[in-house]
Amino acid sequence: MSFNHVDGRLLIEAVPASAIADRFGTPCYVYSRARLEANWRTYDRAFGARRHRIHYAVKANGNLALLNLLHRLGSGFDIVSGGELARAIAAGASGAELVFSGVGKSQAELTQALAAGVGCINVESVPELERLNAIAQNRGQIAPIALRVNPDVDPKTHPYISTGLEQNKFGIPIREALALYQRAARLSNIAVRGVACHIGSQLTTLAPIADAVSRVVDLALELERHGIALSHIDVGGGLGIVYQDETPPSVAEYVRTLSDIPERFDIHLEPGRSIVGDVGVLLTSVEYVKQTPAKHFAICDAAMTELIRPALYQAWHDVVLIEPALPSALAATYDLVGPVCETADFLAYGRALALSPGTRLALMNAGAYGFSMASNYNARPRPPEILVDGANVIEIRRRETLVELMTGEAMAP
Ligand code: LLP
Repeated sequence: MSFNHVDGRLLIEAVPASAIADRFGTPCYVYSRARLEANWRTYDRAFGARRHRIHYAVKANGNLALLNLLHRLGSGFDIVSGGELARAIAAGASGAELVFSGVGKSQAELTQALAAGVGCINVESVPELERLNAIAQNRGQIAPIALRVNPDVDPKTHPYISTGLEQNKFGIPIREALALYQRAARLSNIAVRGVACHIGSQLTTLAPIADAVSRVVDLALELERHGIALSHIDVGGGLGIVYQDETPPSVAEYVRTLSDIPERFDIHLEPGRSIVGDVGVLLTSVEYVKQTPAKHFAICDAAMTELIRPALYQAWHDVVLIEPALPSALAATYDLVGPVCETADFLAYGRALALSPGTRLALMNAGAYGFSMASNYNARPRPPEILVDGANVIEIRRRETLVELMTGEAMAP
């Protein structure tokens, strides 16, 4: 719908990707406003009249313009740092619309969260609970919390993005949760509001989600029997998208598995990838076509610095030409790599493409964990981010400059 090939040209909404590459150069991220809004609304509508709250996970893509568009639709935000807190507020959110996740919130971040009036802090350990209570006491505030529990289920995803197994650092082991809730309920400056879990990311089967949700519901019911009434159950994020040949459940199917949650609990969720993943592409140009005895390499101007997912998770991103190939293009099976001085610096292996120097390509599904994981390694400025809205093109973040790369540094006296 928002990304179409017409006569060999990639259109993003009504705008040819080549026009954006001409104007802003490559590498460059491009996002579709229509796709973003449709994705968020798909979640919202799937709940019908059921009380729910979508906290978009800022870590997937924290661009202010995108956050602001989601805020205008009524989204809340899941944040994991003081930086993301500041971004969400700058994008228009109020503190009450935020949920603060993460295993290592610092003293300063918890203080910042209480000052902003964050709606819920998802606590992940005993010392965090005690630290939060002490800070709240000092400030004369009551901190609203959920405990993030670790339900010990195998989410069947890449080990680096599995979070709900007992050996992972995340959450409170579910069998210790009752005792910790009882302790939390006795603390002077803590108000228990809910329970949270998040078992992993890029989940493509429902069974582990259903399993985790049922364990968490059991816990909520057990807490009620002990006189601790929760108002919400936060099921986290994690729904996968199609990068290659995965068959993730639809949002509607996913939301149906949440229907076992008793009506008296509000359902909170924290989707990231499934809101922004297919909203964006990364445009890149081929600098060199290099043939070695072993390989055809296409050396691109984008690298692991702009899209680290292939290097870090062996992730697949589709690669498409954004305009017809030149007659001089060489059809071959290419490894697409970047200029960064690491063998791990690759974008895609073994792709059948017709390429020549200057060919411009799009790496698809780069909206989530693309820019947000970008780095300045090899002193590479981070690319611009462009939003397409119908026929309009808006530069929502300009390309970083070389001066900005050195800002804040000083010579020793
Ligand atoms: N809530 C919590 C507590 C999380 O840790 C995460 C993601 C989310 C929500 C959002 O999950 P999503 O709906 O996006 O799956 N960089 C990796 C993904 C890391 C996910 C970390 N936590 C990647 O590029 O695949």
